[in-house]
Amino acid sequence: MQARIDTRRLDGRRVAQEVKREVRERIDGLERLGGLVPGLAAVLVGDDPASRTYLSSKTKTCRELDIHSELLQLPAETTNRQLLAEIGRLNRDDSIDGILVQLPLPEGIDTHTVLSSVHPAKDVDGFHPLNVGRLTLGQPALAPCTPLGIVELLKRESIVLEGKHAVIVGRSNIVGKPLAQMLLQENCTVTICHSRTRQLSEVCRRADLLVAAIGRPAMLTRDFIKPGVVVVDVGVNRLEDEEQVRRLFGEGSTRLESFQRRGSTLVGDVHPRDPWGVAAAVTPVPGGVGPLTIAMLMSNTLRACWLRRGQSGRKSPPSEARTS
Ligand code: GUN
Repeated sequence: MQARIDTRRLDGRRVAQEVKREVRERIDGLERLGGLVPGLAAVLVGDDPASRTYLSSKTKTCRELDIHSELLQLPAETTNRQLLAEIGRLNRDDSIDGILVQLPLPEGIDTHTVLSSVHPAKDVDGFHPLNVGRLTLGQPALAPCTPLGIVELLKRESIVLEGKHAVIVGRSNIVGKPLAQMLLQENCTVTICHSRTRQLSEVCRRADLLVAAIGRPAMLTRDFIKPGVVVVDVGVNRLEDEEQVRRLFGEGSTRLESFQRRGSTLVGDVHPRDPWGVAAAVTPVPGGVGPLTIAMLMSNTLRACWLRRGQSGRKSPPSEARTS
């Protein structure tokens, strides 16, 4: 029997605060330099409640950091043509530096065409094929916020990446694939797993860094977890069944109590109890990866603003935009 390890909790809220404070300081600097105010436009088509919640926290964070924000809400019946026309208008609007089209889009909308219509210089989600290609080539690019946040969190928590075997469960364009590229850049050895991977738990047990991004509540249990691994849980799954909460969090747990008060709770893709005492470090849900996603969106918006509007006539760009 393996001795219990004192598992570290990787505090995404604290690191996100740190990133946002730095972004805020740079924005204050931009304002002093020449009155530049970064602008972010979010486009929501339809009325998905989860998307609405994400967008309201994005708007709130923009306000905290003095980023101008616009929310364009369109009905679910919006056509491809109408949506492309709105994005065209935002592409031409000089006060808007970043355009975010909230996913998923309703059925009937051609997601690839829509994401390709965002100007690559305003593509703060990093979903445009040009930015995807640049990231893959190791060139400077606007890159997706969740994987950026994961790498930022691991680095700021002094987790060494070089030479580690990273196993990513999930091959989405938003998390799994771009994260694989970023971890390759950090000199990890990368394995991507998905729904057809054979002997998934065995592959996961070979990981030094295990990333769960599949959207299946508590799927990665103790069988997937090697002693000493660093676990990054990207899942945000809402539970509404009391029996499931009782089973996952335990009788008498504070989570069960809060579920009984609120009627729902969140769980990641990793079992909420199994990695503790086995893994070296774990990102909790909530409070792990989630807060970093918004912080990196703010950072990308500042970067897009500087690259598009801030360079002419200025001698020294803010540090994080210099290499781009
Ligand atoms: N839906 C879930 N995650 C994301 C994201 O990072 N960006 C956008 N635009 N939509 C999402």
